[in-house]
This record gives sequence, C-alpha cells and structure tokens, in this order.
Amino acid sequence: MPASVLAPAWLSYPDSSNALRAQEWASDVVRHPAGELAIDGVSVHRLAEEFGSPLFVMSEADFRRRAREFRDSFNAAFADICGGVDVYYAGKSFLCTEVARWVISEGLRLDTCSGGELLVAERAGVPAESLSLHGNNKSEAELRRALALGVGRIVADSLSEIERIDQLAGELGVRANVMLRLTPGVHAHTHEFIATAHEDQKFGLSLAELTSDTGERSSIAEQAVLAVHHSERINFLGLHCHIGSQIFDAEGFAEAARRLLAFSADLRDQHGIAVSELDLGGGYGIAYTEADTPRPTAEIAEQMASVVRAECVKHGLSAPRISIEPGRAIVGPSTFTLYRVGTVKTVLVDQPAAGEQPAERRYIAVDGGMSDNPRPVLYEADYTAVLANRASSAAPVLSRVVGKHCESGDIVVRDVYLPDDVAAGDLLAVPATGAYCWSLASNYNYLPRPAVVAVRDGVPRVIVRAETEEDLLARDPGA
Ligand code: LLP
Repeated sequence: MPASVLAPAWLSYPDSSNALRAQEWASDVVRHPAGELAIDGVSVHRLAEEFGSPLFVMSEADFRRRAREFRDSFNAAFADICGGVDVYYAGKSFLCTEVARWVISEGLRLDTCSGGELLVAERAGVPAESLSLHGNNKSEAELRRALALGVGRIVADSLSEIERIDQLAGELGVRANVMLRLTPGVHAHTHEFIATAHEDQKFGLSLAELTSDTGERSSIAEQAVLAVHHSERINFLGLHCHIGSQIFDAEGFAEAARRLLAFSADLRDQHGIAVSELDLGGGYGIAYTEADTPRPTAEIAEQMASVVRAECVKHGLSAPRISIEPGRAIVGPSTFTLYRVGTVKTVLVDQPAAGEQPAERRYIAVDGGMSDNPRPVLYEADYTAVLANRASSAAPVLSRVVGKHCESGDIVVRDVYLPDDVAAGDLLAVPATGAYCWSLASNYNYLPRPAVVAVRDGVPRVIVRAETEEDLLARDPGA
C-alpha cells in the first residue's frame, strides 16, 4: 500500500508499523518477540485486564532516571558557577502523592501552583522548605496555607499580590520567602497558548521601562523589587522567569537569562540590591512524534551555564544560585496511554477526479479521547500510536485515532500509520502522555477519568485509582 496523499510532510511511511522509536517511549517499554508490548516485563494485555482501559501506564524507573538526569546534568554544568542547581519538578504536569515522594527521594524539590497541589505535597510529606508556590491569582486561602506551612518560596506575580503577601505575613506573624516572576519579553517558539514570556499575556511583572509623568523611567519589575526589598515581612530571594513550554531551542532560555542578569546588575548599581537566586523556569521539549528532536539535557545545561557564566563576568556579578522547573521533560516520556479499539471505519475525504485514486482516511475509535488527553484539541498537539497487543505484518495504513466523545475534534492521534488489520478489541498504546494529560483530564460526557498505574521491578500498582460510577454521581445531590 502506498503512502497516503493525506499524510503530513513530517510523517514517514514506515517499513513496519511494529517498531518503537526509542525517543518516544519510556526506556523499559519493549515489543516482545511474540509481538506484544510490555513495560518492565509486564504485558499490556495483563495491564488492560487487571486495571481496565483507558489506562495511564507509567514507568517509575524512567521517571526517576529523567529526574536524576536533570539534577546531575545541571549540577555538573553549574558547579563552578554557583555550586549547583536546585531542580523543582513542576507538579502541574502530573502530581499525586506517590510521584511527589519519588521527586523528593531523587533530591529534587517540588513546584506547586495551587492550594490543591500544596495539599498533595503536604500529604506526601514533602518538607515545606522544598516547596514553591506559583500562580498569577493565588487566593488568600492559598497564600495562607503556603505561609502557614513555611514554604521555601512563593513566586509573586503582580504588585497587588506583593501587598497581599505582605499583609497576610503580618497577620500570621511570619516572614514570607518571595521570588518575583518577571516577563523578560522573550517570545518562545512554541504554540501561542503555552508561550509565557512575551508582553501581551497574563503572567509576571514586566521588565519594559515606562516613563512616569515626572519623566522618570522605571519598570513594573523594578517597582516590585523595591516593594519587596522594603517590606519587613518579606525575604527577597530573587528573580524568576518561565518563557513557555515544549521548547527545543535553548536560545530562548539563554536570552531570558541574559535579560534577568542585566536587570540584576541594574538593581545592584541603582539600588544596592543583591539578587541571590535566579530561576530559569521549565519548558524543555520532548518527542511526541518522529518530527520532534529534543536535545540531550546535558547539552542544554551546558549552554545555559555558559551564558550565565559569561553574563556574570560581563556585569561583574557574583553568580546567583540557579534553579529550574522542568515538568514535561521528566514525566512526559515516562508514561503511555493504553486504549482499546471499539470501531474502525474508512471515509472518503475528497471526491476523486476521473482516473485518480480516492483520498480515504481510516478512523480508529478508542475508549477514551479528549477527556483523558485534551492536548490535541487545545494545542493541535501531535501524538503517535502503535498496535500494542500484537505485532502485525499487514501493510501500514494512514489512520486517525479518535475518541468516543460527542465532538468531531475529539482526536487522539491526528496522523499515524497503523497496520491494515487493526480491529475492534485490539489495544493501542499512545506514548509520551505523562505530562498535561491526566492533569488536564475531565469528565466530559460523564466519562470516568482513568487510573494511573506505575510499574516498578515488574510489579504494576495503582498510584491513582480510576473513577467509578459512584464518583461520577458523588457531587450531584440527586434530590
Ligand atoms: N514553571 C512554570 C512557572 C510553569 O508555568 C510551567 C508550566 C513549568 C514550570 C513547567 O513547564 P514544562 O517543563 O512542563 O514545560 N498544558 C500545556 C503546558 C502548560 C504549561 C504550564 N506551565 C501543554 O500541555 O502543553
């Protein structure tokens, strides 16, 4: 069967649709000689039978390895600059009690962005000093919880929030540890909805200088630093930026670092204020399909270190302690989603001209969809999939894997070649679903959210149970 005219340019026609591209999968996922996919020795049919489908299947070893890789690569690259780096795992990408414990046991810290995430961290026993709290509109209750816990850092996002923190710290009789999130004006090359450091969006304190009525020039960021510096209830820790997510090009990170270090030098020169910590955020891209080519973590760390080193020399600054906040790059590739095929149909996409082949698309519908992975709908994100319960020698056919929701945009994998003989009852596995899938999941159409199973040393265990029909009705008083 030939390659389809409907296939996007980046999608190659595979020699065999049984192969796994290593960059998309957790390192302990393999296809057994008999044809079935297995993770750390546990076969997918066993997982589907024991835990149902859809199912998020996570490799604990892979998660831990990627966490260590960030810790070790960044520590090595920055050792001579600032003695190492603090790595905060971004809990918004995926968080549950068990994962919070892995993060801490691998020597990382935990970045939270709501009272709910703080609650999970507390329950997991994460030490308060290893926690940070983000958010552009933290509620009073969230700030109170963070202050009462004594979290290591609250990352303030606006002038009004600084006032609120100051006041609440006063009420509680504590000192707040505060970092300031700045908007360095860097436009990251990623989807518009996940770029966060250009001016026209809701996050952060702008570095752009404005002229006041009296002719003085200053930025919101500068005003924020002065407010925090002069507060008796706030410890000013330093500056933060996060330029966006799913970024491959290290130049955006480097440019943000340059701008924050130049601003640090201005603060020292104009106000005698020292910036002792600098957080360069998260956003490191991963491979969802063959079109994505992430660079090795060590290489990114080296490049960022060389920029920080050079800028500190240039400005005569003693280097601040550096921290980063990766989420997706740690948890994303550790997980795949297992779906069961329900229906298969082929539709005519175009009326063929006389003598031409019709352009057809095969739709394979699975038992989940946009409720367990809204990323294709939200960001036009591409994924790939393989037939998981068996190998097949049937010819690869361009396919669209769709969900079971009442929306035509409910796409799981927009374009993938899958064997011609995929049929109802087969299992499909979609890799790289660890980040922003479970955490963005919903109950749309009253579908229960799937379980998350972690496999370690050949033993699968539930780290988040699946929702039940009782859960679906639990909040409806039913009077
Ligand atoms: N730090 C801050 C302040 C953030 O806002 C984020 C992500 C991260 C760190 C972690 O970024 P990561 O390393 O995971 O890329 N739902 C979107 C992504 C939203 C990112 C939100 N902030 C998606 O599915 O692509």
